[in-house]
Amino acid sequence: MDRSTWFNPLRDPQDKRLPRIAGPCGMVIFGVTGDLARKKLLPAIYDLANRGLLPAGFTLIGFGRRDWDHDDFCDYVKKAVEHGARTAFRDNVWQRLAEAIIFVRGTFDDDAAFDTLNATVAEVDNTRGTAGNWAFYLSIPPDSFSPVCHQLQRSGLAEAADGQWRRVIIEKPFGHDLASAKELNETVNAVFPEDAVFRIDHYLGKETVQNIMALRFANQLFDPLWTSHYVDHVQITMAEDMGLGGRAGYYDGIGAARDVIQNHLIQLLALTAMEEPIEFTPSELQAEKIKVLRATKPVLPLAKTTARGQYTAGWQGSEQVRGLTEEDGFDPQSTTETFAALTLEINSRRWAGVPFYLRTGKRLGRRVTEIALVFKQAPHQPFGDVMTTALGKNAMVIRVQPDEGVTMRFGSKVPGSTMEVRDVNMDFSYSEAFTEQSPEAYERLILDALLDESSLFPTNEEVELSWKILDPILDYWATHGKPEPYKAGTWGPESAEKMLSREHRTWRRP
Ligand code: BG6
Repeated sequence: MDRSTWFNPLRDPQDKRLPRIAGPCGMVIFGVTGDLARKKLLPAIYDLANRGLLPAGFTLIGFGRRDWDHDDFCDYVKKAVEHGARTAFRDNVWQRLAEAIIFVRGTFDDDAAFDTLNATVAEVDNTRGTAGNWAFYLSIPPDSFSPVCHQLQRSGLAEAADGQWRRVIIEKPFGHDLASAKELNETVNAVFPEDAVFRIDHYLGKETVQNIMALRFANQLFDPLWTSHYVDHVQITMAEDMGLGGRAGYYDGIGAARDVIQNHLIQLLALTAMEEPIEFTPSELQAEKIKVLRATKPVLPLAKTTARGQYTAGWQGSEQVRGLTEEDGFDPQSTTETFAALTLEINSRRWAGVPFYLRTGKRLGRRVTEIALVFKQAPHQPFGDVMTTALGKNAMVIRVQPDEGVTMRFGSKVPGSTMEVRDVNMDFSYSEAFTEQSPEAYERLILDALLDESSLFPTNEEVELSWKILDPILDYWATHGKPEPYKAGTWGPESAEKMLSREHRTWRRP
């Protein structure tokens, strides 16, 4: 082959493998003293700076109530970075970032504080070359979206002059049902056009989640199997071993279904089940996700096809842990579910008749997120029953975390003189196949928002469709009893086991 015709990344600026660097811009974080900013956003910004992916004059403005001066804010950011950054702490990178951060004090009802913010932004544009391009990150409770959006509009901050941009990045929960999600979308869209709104679902920023698309659409191997002809059912599991100590304010009254099924798990379902987009562009991708979400419905009757639970005291490994109602801040009578399982169906040619089982829970046996396609049994088995007792159903498992990778499970001959067949695993592991470390989800998503790359952000329509799927289940639960207790450290309530055993299936024990 003539080597001169090879793709040359230095010669061809279109090479998508080159790291993309954001153009001139700055970011304002509302809720900068909150947990998310401390644990995820500030470390991610440092990691981006450390990787050289932020523009030279990038400036970060923190907006908050605390009586802080520049040094207090610097100390706070530095601690967050030292604790949470993925990449090594380098003094020269930190020094540059420290010069690029500003704290503006104020509350969301304080017109003067927003006017000061506006003046600060204008000054930064003049002195640091941010060119009038600003992202506003709302890391705040949803009931504050409206006042902040109003202030951004009133002060003129939301308005971009010609050739400049203003974007808003918002965090879930996007409402607590369809009606409130619509209201929230209207509030935000009244100030920012939809193409300037970036809704974060951090699962979409995970490498393994993006790999679902690579696996499905870059290969020929799997697609023929990816249909109801061969797939018996799909299990999407997001299990966590941690409890909810310290999160009562957010979680009590919200529960597992609203916290992670409405967003992370339904997005995983959409990526697993959607058709191939015509092109790998945001609009084509979103169109396919929307199509599959429109075809997705809960399977009835909900009494049999759903389950929910609440963890009680137990053992997590060698640690004795409290039940939810004994955790600080939770109502001792709380009926908030910490485990939820549902059965969904997708009314399309590819998926009709294939149940999608979604489950999530806190204080389960271990932390694992995976998508398992469980295949039908071979229609005919020439080996005797006795020889195949240890042969289960074939499965393809996308291991989202931890131990990221893909596993194929199939039968193999046990060495020996008889034809005994037993399940074995064939693994692809990210850490073995690649030397590169995966970026944190927030690194990827913050950079994408600054680059105006919206593929990994759910649109308002996706958010509303997810609520449409979940609302009937939430309504049913609200009027039918309470979550069933399950012991911390186990795999959830009995009703979840029954939900599958009724259909002669079992949950995987990852
Ligand atoms: C968040 C939920 O969105 O995701 C938390 O609010 C959950 O309850 C968290 O613990 C899990 O994220 P990850 O990336 O650790 O799986």
